[in-house]
Amino acid sequence: MKKKIIVTGGTGFIGSHTVVELMEAGFGVVIFDDLRNSDIGVLDKIEKITGHKPDFEQVDLSNQVATEAVVSKHADAVACIHFAALKAVGESVENPLLYYRNNLFSLINLLQAFRPHSDTAFIFSSSATVYGQPDKLPIDESSPVVPANSPYGNTKQMAEEILQQSVEAGTIKSAISLRYFNPIGAHSSALIGELPKGLPNNLMPFITQTAAGIRPDLKVFGKDYKTADGTAVRDYIHVVDVAQAHVVALNRILDEKSKAAYEVFNLGTGMGFSVLDVIKSFEKTSGLKLKYHFAERRPGDVEQIYADTSLANEELGWKAQFNLDDMTSSAWNWEKNLRGIK
Ligand code: WQD
Repeated sequence: MKKKIIVTGGTGFIGSHTVVELMEAGFGVVIFDDLRNSDIGVLDKIEKITGHKPDFEQVDLSNQVATEAVVSKHADAVACIHFAALKAVGESVENPLLYYRNNLFSLINLLQAFRPHSDTAFIFSSSATVYGQPDKLPIDESSPVVPANSPYGNTKQMAEEILQQSVEAGTIKSAISLRYFNPIGAHSSALIGELPKGLPNNLMPFITQTAAGIRPDLKVFGKDYKTADGTAVRDYIHVVDVAQAHVVALNRILDEKSKAAYEVFNLGTGMGFSVLDVIKSFEKTSGLKLKYHFAERRPGDVEQIYADTSLANEELGWKAQFNLDDMTSSAWNWEKNLRGIK
């Protein structure tokens, strides 16, 4: 019998890549997703890649009754990996209650529903956004969590606290929060990838959509940061590396290897790249010239951030394998496949 894992948000960008890695590692998967920001067609793509279609439940996890029902239907699951959340920083500033309701109620409802099965392992999708602009780089997990500069960021901070306190109270036996830096790229099959609805907020889909002719040009936000080339620096990480880290973290809990009931790990490569570095890599791997111009800094952006990944490397025995060129080329292959570009 395959061990069953609940993956919320499993039709989304990072969720779908994680479902593939879980299934390839021999786990059974049931996805909980309300499809508000993803496409049901992802299930067929996952089947094409892995040979199996994951089970699927369409459910809004901010609804307590619906969450209780769907969790009890899958009471044999040994773990839950919780990706389902809204993630647009700007939208969260305009509509904070939407973000608090959706991102926090869903977590609370899930934890509540797992109460009778408190040994369910729980893995949470957190973010490097909890660090704000750190004083010292690279940043490790002991660095302070600073007041968030958006409701979205605040939901990640609050969710981590809710989870930690729920573990301390015994509501759930053990949990791991994974703080992602900037996941980009796509599966090598080019069948799944990032598919933002409307105008992309994030750099990589904006680059590939510009190259595909869907956007006229890319705005590079800020050129006078105190970085080597003046543009902001991030720790970009291949989404497949992020997905594999979830499988490793899951096994750590299931094999009872955790050092504490609640643990936190950074998921990055440990390397910082500027916006211009990403553009250069994209131009190199695609052979295209990207149209871009410099624009004002984007409000709320930090100048630079990259991870100290020693804890994940040493404790999880996990290390990112893919480089920036792998990320930009796979993202472009996905966009080309999606748009039928040769
Ligand atoms: C990267 C760099 C931009 C778009 C956000 C969230 C974070 C997270 C990941 C989420 C920045 C620049 C971008 C563009 C640009 N979690 N940029 N032109 O802001 O580091 O992180 O996404 O789900 O919480 O805040 O990522 O990809 O938006 O930006 O110049 O059109 O690219 O200013 O320096 P960010 P990003």
